[in-house]
Amino acid sequence: MRLDGKVALVVGAGSIGPGVGNGRAISILFAREGAKVVCADISLPSAEETVSMIRGEGKEAVAVRGDATRSEDAKGMVDLAVEKYGKLDVLVNVVGIASGLGVLEVSEEEWDRVIATNLKGILLVSKHAVPVMIKGGGGTIINISSAAGFVAHPSLTYGTTKAAIINMTRCMAVDLAKYGIRVNCIAPGFLDTPMVAPIMTEERRAVLRQSIPLGRIGTAWDTAYAALYLASEEASYVTGVTLVVDGGLLAAGGRRRGEEKRL
Ligand SMILES: NC(=O)c1ccc[n+]([C@@H]2O[C@H](COP(=O)([O-])OP(=O)(O)OC[C@H]3O[C@@H](n4cnc5c(N)ncnc54)[C@H](O)[C@@H]3O)[C@@H](O)[C@H]2O)c1
Repeated sequence: MRLDGKVALVVGAGSIGPGVGNGRAISILFAREGAKVVCADISLPSAEETVSMIRGEGKEAVAVRGDATRSEDAKGMVDLAVEKYGKLDVLVNVVGIASGLGVLEVSEEEWDRVIATNLKGILLVSKHAVPVMIKGGGGTIINISSAAGFVAHPSLTYGTTKAAIINMTRCMAVDLAKYGIRVNCIAPGFLDTPMVAPIMTEERRAVLRQSIPLGRIGTAWDTAYAALYLASEEASYVTGVTLVVDGGLLAAGGRRRGEEKRL
């Protein structure tokens, strides 16, 4: 029970398709570890599905519909945590959308939409969550970036926003340390989640397994266990860091599995 007595808000707690995405896995794991979880998502049915999975295990959670890019919705998510559970200790900003467009193809509208969803949402929910955390004597915020934030990515908007989240986390960490609020980031690599299901052919899986030093594609639970550590007291001296959870992909720098034998 590493989060016993804590109240957590997970923004993007649903899943874009059937199965378990990052926000859903984080919500379920946090509840298993003793947290009361506010599951917020732009899709209420999806947030409610997460909550019913949590309640099915006899744990505590509540669903709320909210668009993280709208200030009043962000406020509503935080208000619900306070109304229902009296405080807010942990905020996880999971929301992120991908758009597969390069410089020549991306429209101004598409650029604005992805920047707002992947970056402004973090700011808006944090803006409302931080005063509540200060009132409670501190807290912790976890932002979800991606390994795509460290290297060039075919999607200009995705790669740009995921890199920005890494430094936004550092800026927030230094800014909020005086209030006893820790801010950290997780950069997952390739995960088998509903978000990527449409592009995960068997051929692609085989190529990925060859590229990932640990020899497997990750799951949302890999992200969730990293989030659990960062949210827990075990990480009480950790702030401003990005924890890469990618099976060694970035460390390998493009070298394929087994290639070292040929060197
Ligand atoms: N799946 C991967 O391989 C992978 C790898 C690295 C990083 N990530 C990151 O993890 C995060 C979640 O990915 P996932 O695969 O679990 O995706 P997902 O699409 O299944 O989950 C994201 C959830 O956010 C919700 N959402 C979208 N826009 C929203 C908004 N404006 N306000 C509130 N909720 C909104 C969606 O309805 C969805 O339920 C993203 O930030 C993504 O970039 C995923």
